[in-house]
Amino acid sequence: MANIPSVDSVELERQAGIMQRIYELNTALSSPPLAFVDTYGCQQNEADSEKIRGMLHEMGYGFTDDEYEADLIVINTCAIREHAEMRILGNVGALVHTKRKNPEQKIVLCGCMVQQEHMIERIKKSFHQVDLVFGTHELYRFPELMDRMLSTHKGRIFEVRKIDGERVEGLPVLRQDSVKAWLSVMYGCNNFCSYCIVPYVRGRERSRAPEAIFDEARQLIDSGYKEITLLGQNVNSYGRDLGGDTDFSYLLSEINKIPGDFIIRFMTSHPKDATDRLFQTMADCEKVENHIHLPFQSGNDRLLKAMNRNYTKQSYLELVEKARSLMPDISITSDVIVGFPGETDEEFEDTLDLVRKVRFDMLFTFIYSPREGTPAAKMPDPFTREEKQRRFDRLIALHNEIVAEKQAAHVGKVARVLIDGESRKDSRGYNLTSRTSEGRLVLLKGSKELIGQFRNVLITDSTTWSLCGEIC
Ligand code: SAH
Ligand code: SF4
Ligand code: F3S
Repeated sequence: MANIPSVDSVELERQAGIMQRIYELNTALSSPPLAFVDTYGCQQNEADSEKIRGMLHEMGYGFTDDEYEADLIVINTCAIREHAEMRILGNVGALVHTKRKNPEQKIVLCGCMVQQEHMIERIKKSFHQVDLVFGTHELYRFPELMDRMLSTHKGRIFEVRKIDGERVEGLPVLRQDSVKAWLSVMYGCNNFCSYCIVPYVRGRERSRAPEAIFDEARQLIDSGYKEITLLGQNVNSYGRDLGGDTDFSYLLSEINKIPGDFIIRFMTSHPKDATDRLFQTMADCEKVENHIHLPFQSGNDRLLKAMNRNYTKQSYLELVEKARSLMPDISITSDVIVGFPGETDEEFEDTLDLVRKVRFDMLFTFIYSPREGTPAAKMPDPFTREEKQRRFDRLIALHNEIVAEKQAAHVGKVARVLIDGESRKDSRGYNLTSRTSEGRLVLLKGSKELIGQFRNVLITDSTTWSLCGEIC
């Protein structure tokens, strides 16, 4: 059992006291200062940003999406691929202009990217507009760091600890949405897939106590939320660090028992830990989505081994078969990496073969990006970017063909959906978005009052990425 310390209530009360002090200062101003919180990366980061907003709200801040208007800019960063980091650094670079217009503006960087030593050096050297940098383990200390930045401290502040992580409960949360909510069930990752930076920047797996999760789920449902997404880098290993026999299936079945009309989603599942018990629980729990996101990364056994994934193409296919035998309409989505160091054309064919066999409902496809400090970054990588791009294009073409066929097969069927928001302007007049239990996007026409309601819809049309429907 991992020996992960908890942040005690005395420390959290100290942070709350600091928030109160800043609140009093801010509310004495003629208008509240404004914060812009910009989030990159995965849902875990989205959930963390809701805590940052929660703390800022308690400190008396209002919110804006305009960088020029903001008194405070907080950028919650991601390190998963080079492209993500380049985008973030480009945007931080551009903040020189906003700060020139408003020299009092404060710029804060946090999240995964800044948990890397080489990035800290780079920010120190080349991004002088940044006032405060704090790592993923310092989130609960945000009030204290804000206080130092705003008052006593003169220079720039860098607070990044290299620790396994701590258990923290009870931070304030300001959610962005009123229908759908993120609910983190665990933090960190122990898997050390050889290409991945997450275990280095997020620390070891820390599961939240089941009671804390159930309480939060009940509160969300009581306050009208209709969709709860349970989050973790590998939800299938939930509970291992708690001792006893609490596991993810137990969480699902207990949350399923909470009275109310709502849907439970979850991500991400690692194939090595997806069990028959998980699939049986999904099939038995009527509120659990009819969908699993099960990243396979590669269809080749040599590569899966080099990636440290701990399953084979055959065992992955067996999992899919098991899931479909219990839930024939289940949608299966996945992540795949093209161009892992040393991947040959023949080995890539195994990935295409797996995609042909499974016929995924959605695929998130990535070209391998070396991450400093990971084992894969040191592996010989003889193939050129162009060769990798050619494979990538073939994969996308195959997948798009499969998805178009699968989507068309839904036309004429009736599905139950949760209407979850307004859609972007559409020349055909669709103004609402909704999702089926399988997670399929269905565009609808209707009053905004319908947002937050479950309805049956007749599917009338399909494109590769969405279905269109009429409310029955
Ligand atoms: N915990 C999740 C994935 C989190 S990262 C899981 O294990 O399934 C999301 C996806 O980004 C991964 O599934 C992988 O496909 C991709 N990814 C991670 N590191 C990458 C890298 N170095 N280069 C390219 N893609 C990467
Ligand atoms: Fe990264 Fe693997 Fe952990 Fe997912 S399971 S976050 S891919 S190390
Ligand atoms: Fe990115 Fe960190 Fe998530 S690296 S993908 S924000 S866990």
